[in-house]
Formats: sequence, C-alpha cells, structure tokens
Amino acid sequence: MIRVGIIGVGTVGTSVANILQENSDIISARAGVEIVPTIGVVKNLAKKRDVSIEITDDPSRVIDNPDIDIVVELMGGVEEPYALVKRALENGKSVVTANKALLAYHRYDLQKIAGDLPLFYEASVAGGIPIIGALRNGLSANHIESIIGILNGTCNYMLTKMIQEGVSYDAVLKEAQELGYAEADPTFDVGGFDAAHKLLILASIAYGIDAKPEDILIEGIEKISNSDVSFAKEFGYEIKLLGVARKSTKGVEIRVHPALVSKKHAIAKVDGVMNAISVVGDRVGETMFYGPGAGGDATASSVIADIIEIARGNRGPMLGYKKGLESGFELLESSEIVSKYYLKIKVLDQPGVLAAVTSTLADGGISISSVLQRDSKVENRVRLLLTTHFCKESQINAAIEQLKSLESVGEGNISMLRIVE
Ligand code: HSE
Repeated sequence: MIRVGIIGVGTVGTSVANILQENSDIISARAGVEIVPTIGVVKNLAKKRDVSIEITDDPSRVIDNPDIDIVVELMGGVEEPYALVKRALENGKSVVTANKALLAYHRYDLQKIAGDLPLFYEASVAGGIPIIGALRNGLSANHIESIIGILNGTCNYMLTKMIQEGVSYDAVLKEAQELGYAEADPTFDVGGFDAAHKLLILASIAYGIDAKPEDILIEGIEKISNSDVSFAKEFGYEIKLLGVARKSTKGVEIRVHPALVSKKHAIAKVDGVMNAISVVGDRVGETMFYGPGAGGDATASSVIADIIEIARGNRGPMLGYKKGLESGFELLESSEIVSKYYLKIKVLDQPGVLAAVTSTLADGGISISSVLQRDSKVENRVRLLLTTHFCKESQINAAIEQLKSLESVGEGNISMLRIVE
C-alpha cells in the first residue's frame, strides 16, 4: 500500500483525495498497488472540506510522517512550498506538485535536491493536458523546433468573449473571476505571469534552459482593446495570449505576449477557457495537445497520473535530462526576438503623415506588409493599421520611438502586437 499526504485541500486537493478513493479500482490495477489518500493539510481548519480523509493544519504530520510515501503539494506560492517540498525530499519522500510558480523559480534547485527520488509535476502546466509526459517521454527523440501554447484559460476565455461577443475587457474579467477561472490575484493571469511560469517549465524540458520569469519577455492582455480585436479580424487574425519557445540559429526565444494568430493556425481555433499546445519536433513534425487547463478533476487527473507513475517505480530525471546537453542552448535576449508586427497608430489627419510613418519604418530597415487607414476620427485622429514583414524586436522598438517623435503621432498613440503565423 502507498499512502499519500496532500498539502493544500482546495479545489484540486479535494478532487485528488476523492478520485483516489472513487476510482481506486482502475488506479490500483494500473499502479499494481493500492494507493490511499491519508492526511490532508489545510491553513484554515474551520473551513468545511468535502473529503473523507483526516485533516490537519500541521504540515509536519505529512512531511515528517514515516507512514507517508508520497507528498502532494497543492498549496500555491513559492518560498513556503519550496521549504516544505525540500524537507519532504530530504526525508526521502516522493513528491508530486501542481505548483507552476514554485517550479518557475526553483525547478533546478529541486531537481538537485530530489536526485533519484521522483518529483513529478504533470499538473503544473495546462492542468489536465499530459504535456509534460509528452515532452519528457513521448517526444524525447526529437530536437524541439518550437512550442506555441495557449497556457492561460482565463485570458483565452476573456479574449474569446471580446472577439466573439464584443464584451469589454473589464466586464469579461469580472465574469472570469465569478466563474472561478482566474487566479486569486488575476494580475497573474492577465499580466501573462501564469502562462510564463508554465512556459518556462516546458522550455526546460525542450531546451534545458534555466531561466526565471524575470529573464524573459512577458506582456499581458491588459492593453488589448475592442478596436484591436475588430482590426485583427479585418486582417484575418485572432488575438491570443501565447507562450512561445522557439529555437533559432542564435538561441532560444522564450516569450509570453498577446499575438495576432493567423486563422489558418490550429491554435487560433481554440476558444474559451481551453488550453492548447503545439509542439514541433524535428522528426515528428507538428503535434497538438488540447484540453482543460484548470479545474479540480482535470488537474487532479494529472496529479494522480504522477502518483501512479511513482507507484509503478518510474523515476526522473525530473526535467528530462540524465546528463547535461553537450551543445547547450542560450536564452536569446528579448531584443533579438524576430517576429512580424502589427502597429496601430493614431495620427493627425494631415498631408504627408502616411509618408512620414512609412519612411520612418523604412529608415529602421522595416519592410511593411500591409496598410489600412480607418477614417472614423477618435480625438481628432485617424487610425493607421500596419503589418510588417519579419524584423527584430530591437528594430520595431527603435522605430516606435522614432514614430513617437513625429509631430503627427506623439506619445501614447501607438500600440504594437506581434504576429504568429
Ligand atoms: N488561472 C489559470 C488559468 C488556472 O486561467 O489558466 C490554471 O493554472
């Protein structure tokens, strides 16, 4: 028999305890051993939990308990769970965590501490989608060319509502919070940090890159307006918050930002709260993974898959490498990212303005792909909508600074989005 202690008995922890009991027939057959949820640790003992396991507010009852074999960490946060997971591993326990923030900061420290002990984390990225196992195991013969993911259900839900129903940003954020999709602090969702945490975990398995959220480009969806949404449609794009990890000749780009996605791309068709990840391997080609990125039972499904793997005797390596990569990858500076761009520029309606804008871009070595002008005046300005061919992030940023210095443009009148095709 394997005994499981659960630290954090919220939505996911409750599902883990209940599914382990209710699906024990299939779980024990697949694991080859009975798996018993034994103790749950909570912060607030007064709150009623819908579980039939013993509940305590003392984590040492799990971590330092010789009868507990597997510790499941579902408490959230970074430093507090780090200390607890570290202690559990030092006590020789196997650990399963769904905590993406913990891993975004401490995955390499934890890998070292775990050594040969299993520390699994399938539920930390895209909830119920088995993407960690797919990258670590199923695709392990491939050099990974790219990972493009919709990794935050809240943002995808919000953008879908804005695009399909014209709902305003503020109204749809409130709705996402009421539906329970958003994190306790929704800035983690809308600011792109939740997606970035998940992307960093995937990039470690794909490329062996040890980067922290501070090291990569992260932009959220806070500035997306209903006009961006309708212009995107006119150009034949959807707007999605994407996590992109991509190999180039110079290194690996890791970035999270809202993007115009060509309607031809399968990921553009992923609507609502669902998550999806496209992984391109050099031998397999493109693979697509789709499913629920959050929710108690869906996330618990991944947590329990890890528990079963551990019960079967499967071990690491936690991040998928038994030894270091001989020709390791470098993280590219954000300024080196190469993309196509969309610019929305509110300009004074005067002779020569279009010429000034296009020549500023030409001076910056940026080639324009398409231009539209919308004459309906807002604050006495018309809107110029441009898309570019590929150029560097440093080039587009420099050109934006130059454009701001034009009298007909000025500060606060340019918005930029990256295009992913
Ligand atoms: N807030 C997250 C999301 C939940 O919206 O996708 C799962 O990490």
